[in-house]
Amino acid sequence: MKFFIDTADLDEITALTETGMVDGVTTNPSLIAKAGRPFLDAIAEICHVVTGPVSAEVTATDAPTMIKEGRKLAAIADNVAVKVPLTEGGLMACKALSDEGTMVNVTLCFSAAQAILAAKAGATFVSPFVGRLDDLGQDGLGLVEDICDIYANYPNFKTAVLVASVRGPQHVVDAAKMGADVVTLPPNALRQLFQHPLTDKGLQSFLSDWATTGQSIL
Ligand code: E4P
Repeated sequence: MKFFIDTADLDEITALTETGMVDGVTTNPSLIAKAGRPFLDAIAEICHVVTGPVSAEVTATDAPTMIKEGRKLAAIADNVAVKVPLTEGGLMACKALSDEGTMVNVTLCFSAAQAILAAKAGATFVSPFVGRLDDLGQDGLGLVEDICDIYANYPNFKTAVLVASVRGPQHVVDAAKMGADVVTLPPNALRQLFQHPLTDKGLQSFLSDWATTGQSIL
């Protein structure tokens, strides 16, 4: 399973990349606005730090302009994945950009039917938003399970399931059990994966017992 981080904050990306756990980055217009940096510069900087796919989202809503924007974003670096919304125009742009050899992440996926369309359009990634479905009292992970099951029936579908709108460790564990290819996590959610109170408690007692020996390894 691959881990992407869902942020445009370069400091966070740099710090988390050093852990060796980051396989890519996803951004969206809201995250770019939050980072307060010029969009194209921010994507170029992130692509410099991270070798894996970096999603950069188009902001047009018609296919021809999305394609033009996508080409401009893809020209920033080889590891840019152009992000398009799961709309009719977005899927037309996905097909055109994918045919040109550009990685495409189809975002804002909220149904299995939409995920089938994304695969048919040649998407590199489809992003079901689990947290936003859960927020409405729906079953976000149920959608991920449906998509994984459907894609497994069609070996010609090459689209990776990128679980988005992740709120915490349980989403990651459940998505992993379902065989999802990628999860994209806000920085704090990734940090949460490292933590367990029994790890802290156990380490504290090992270290205090070690201190009583008066020894040093180095
Ligand atoms: C994914 O690519 C999106 O940027 C993201 O996961 C959205 O998450 P949110 O629902 O927490 O905004």
